[in-house]
Amino acid sequence: MRGLGVIILAAGQGKRMRSAAPKVMHLLGGKPLLSHVLGACAGLEPDRVLVVVGHGAAGIREGFPEMDEAGWVLQREQLGTGHAARCGAEALGDFTGDVLILNGDVPLLSRLSLSGMLAAHRSRADDLTLGVATLEDPTGYGRILRRPDGDIAGIVEERDATAAERAVREINVGLYLASSDFLRAALAALDNHNHQGEYYLPDIARFAAEREARVGSVTLDDPREFRGVNNREELAWMEKALQREINRKWMERGVTLKDPDSTYIDADATIGEDTVIGPNSHLLGRTVVGARCRVDGSAYLTNVRLADDVHLRFSVVMDDCDIEDGVSVGPFAHLRPGTVLRRNVHIGNFVEVKNSSVGESTKASHLSYIGDTELGRDSNIGAGTITCNYDGFTKSRTTIGDRVQVGSDTQLVAPVVVGDDAYIGAGSTITKDVPAGALALSRAPQRHVEDWVAGYRARKTKA
Ligand code: UD1
Ligand code: CA
Repeated sequence: MRGLGVIILAAGQGKRMRSAAPKVMHLLGGKPLLSHVLGACAGLEPDRVLVVVGHGAAGIREGFPEMDEAGWVLQREQLGTGHAARCGAEALGDFTGDVLILNGDVPLLSRLSLSGMLAAHRSRADDLTLGVATLEDPTGYGRILRRPDGDIAGIVEERDATAAERAVREINVGLYLASSDFLRAALAALDNHNHQGEYYLPDIARFAAEREARVGSVTLDDPREFRGVNNREELAWMEKALQREINRKWMERGVTLKDPDSTYIDADATIGEDTVIGPNSHLLGRTVVGARCRVDGSAYLTNVRLADDVHLRFSVVMDDCDIEDGVSVGPFAHLRPGTVLRRNVHIGNFVEVKNSSVGESTKASHLSYIGDTELGRDSNIGAGTITCNYDGFTKSRTTIGDRVQVGSDTQLVAPVVVGDDAYIGAGSTITKDVPAGALALSRAPQRHVEDWVAGYRARKTKA
C-alpha cells in the first residue's frame, strides 16, 4: 500500500475576516474550520497529518489538544501557500508516497470527494492531481489554464491574470494531490515573481506542465464542498449550507423540525427518533437529545444531554446539564452548568438551577433559585424559594432530603441540611439544619392591631 501524507495550510492571518482570531479557528457548525478539514482527512486514514500554522499558532494548537505534537509545523513568516507547503514537505522528511495538500479554509470537503480524488490519482498514476470546479462567478479564485488539447498548463491567480484569463470559469479549489518526489522538485522550483511577491502553491501546476509531468484533475460539483471562507459573508453562506445539510440529515432520521430555517444544530449534536423541535431552537456543541422529546421553541441548549420523553416548554437556556427521562422544563427556565435532573422532575417558569442535582419526581414550579444544592426525590420547592449559596467569599451547599415540602418564599442560607420528610413554613429564613420529619418555622408571629385603619385614615385626612 502506497503511503499517504496530508498537509493542511493554516498559517495565514485571514486578513479579510478582520478578526483577532486566526481564520481557521472561526466556528462553523460549532467547530473550528480546521476541525472540519481534519475530520475529512481522517477519513482517508493517512499515515501522517501535518498542519502548517503561523498566525495565532499557539491559540490554534490549544484548540486541538488531542493532536499529535509532531503534527504541527510552524511557518514563521507567511511567504505564501507555496512556502507553507514547503514547510510541510520538509517536515515530512523522507516520506514517500502521495501527499495531499489542502487549504485550511475550505471546510466542507467531503471524505467521499477526497477518497475519489485519491483513487483517480492512483489509478492514473499521475504526478499531480488538482481539484477543480466551474463557477458562474469565479471571482477571487485562481483560474485553471488549459492547452488547446485540454491538458492543464498552469494556474493563474486573479490578481496576476489578464482579462482573457479572468474570463475563465474553471477554478482551483485549493486541493492538490502529488507524488512525494514530484512535490519536492516542484516546491523547490517555486519563485515569488508575481503581483503579491509570494510563493504560490498553484504554480506547481505550471512546473508540471513545463516538464511534461502527468497532471490530472478531478471536478467537484457541489459548491458547498469547494467554497473557501475568506470573509464573514462567506462564513455565513457556509453556515447556512451546513445547517441545511445537518437539518436534512436529522429529518431523514425521523426528527420533526417545525421550521428548519430557524433551527440550528451543531455538527456534533445528535437527536433521537420522533423528537419534535420547534422554531428558533439551538442545539449546540455536543448536545444529545433522546427519542420522543418535545422542544417547543426558542431553546438554547449547549452541551446538554436530554434522555427520552423530555419536554422543554417555550424558551429555555441550558448549559452543560444532564436531564433524565420524562423531565419537563420551562417555560422561561435557565439551567446552568452542573445541573442534573433525575427522572420526571418538573422545573417550571422563572426557575434557575445551577450545579445542583434534583431527585426523581421533585418539583420546583415557580420563581426559584436552586444553586449548589443536593435535592432529594418527591420533594416540592414552593414558589419563590431561594438557596442563598454565596456570602461574598465562598459558595456553600444546601442539602434537602426526600419528600420535603419547602414553603413558598423560603430562603435556605447555606450551608444547611434539611432532613427527609421535613416541612418548612412559607416565608421562613432557614439558617440551621432541620431535623427529619420536623416542621421548621422562622417567620415573625403574626399580630393584629384592632381598629388601627380607621385611626390612621383620620390622622391622614386631618393633615
Ligand atoms: C488560494 C489559491 C487559489 C485558490 C483558492 C481556493 C494560492 C496562491 N491561491 O487562494 O488559487 O483558488 O485558494 O480557495 O494558493 N496560508 C499559509 N501560509 C501562507 C499563506 C496562506 O498557510 O503564507 C494558508 C491560509 O491560512 C489558508 C490557505 O493557505 O488556509 C489559503 O490561503 P488564502 O490566502 O486564503 O488563499 P486564496 O487567496 O483563497
Ligand atoms: Ca482562501
